[in-house]
Amino acid sequence: MGRDKDKKPVIPRLTRNPLKNILIIRRLRVKPAMTLKSTLIRVNNKKQSMQLIDGKAIADQVKQEIAEEVAAIKAKGGKTPHLAVIIVGHDGGSETYVAHKVKSCEQVGFKSTKICFEDNITEDELLAQIEMLNNDADVDGFIVQLPLPKHISEQKVIEAIDHRKDVDGFHPINVGRTSIGLSSFVSATPAGILELLKRYKIETSGKHCVVIGRSNIVGKPVASLMMQKGYPGDSTVTVCHSRTKNIKEICLQADIIIAAIGSPNFVKADMVKEGAVVIDVGTTRVPSTETKSGWKLTGDVDFAEVAPKCSFITPVPGGVGPMTICSLLKNTLLAGKKEIYE
Ligand code: GUN
Repeated sequence: MGRDKDKKPVIPRLTRNPLKNILIIRRLRVKPAMTLKSTLIRVNNKKQSMQLIDGKAIADQVKQEIAEEVAAIKAKGGKTPHLAVIIVGHDGGSETYVAHKVKSCEQVGFKSTKICFEDNITEDELLAQIEMLNNDADVDGFIVQLPLPKHISEQKVIEAIDHRKDVDGFHPINVGRTSIGLSSFVSATPAGILELLKRYKIETSGKHCVVIGRSNIVGKPVASLMMQKGYPGDSTVTVCHSRTKNIKEICLQADIIIAAIGSPNFVKADMVKEGAVVIDVGTTRVPSTETKSGWKLTGDVDFAEVAPKCSFITPVPGGVGPMTICSLLKNTLLAGKKEIYE
């Protein structure tokens, strides 16, 4: 077999050079989903095919597409999309996420503004900052990184954000519109999961999708999206949570499992049927002697024992995580183009 057959196509990527303030084209190897190969693995001496869902590769593709669209908007003299991010305090995880968000904005040619507060900021001061961003015509969308210090009500903060600038998709208007199938800013992680299913052409119609976890940010919206009419959707959805009885038996009936419970290695091999699709949303920092930082990101799925049973599975890291920022960028682009709300 010729080696050329295995070569991945090279797709040009737009990137911003802040020094020259121009867009340059960098050539980067991006793996289109359809060329990603299955891995043949041996389970109990039987060969099975399992495909790893490469969230990083898909995220690179999506960013590439966004960068091209932004370049076209700018070439026509249109407005540069502008995302603002508020961060309160110095939570390590939040600082890392926000740094990635700002860097991603730069990669696709967006303008970004990071607004930092110490964790002794009062709720009123934070609400006043939100009001300023609501009224700032240059800011197309903004987010307040969660979690917030205990003395600030996250719900109050979410509801203070103008839903037309709520690119996180957390405001009750966006949540409600999403759940009845109206155009809306869909929250980032559920949107990223659906994009992965779509790009890997994973069948969802009539499939039994079991969502583990009922959070407002992931469990509830992803369950609602998987039952929507159309693709990806049309699934029969069961939501399990910490009080669910017979969780193992329910999971064993799943064609698709979406694990978003925040409990490292919760999903074990004896909970998964052969050939299932497993999407792991978990990103818990677990102490580790293997890394310099002293911790490693661990998913909700015991990957080593579950992967051999799956048709498709997302790794942690490198699965759902990279897609979350893409969804935020997509929402910001939609906000800039006024495609959801005038
Ligand atoms: N904290 C963890 N994930 C998120 C997210 O998607 N948005 C915000 N605002 N905070 C987060």
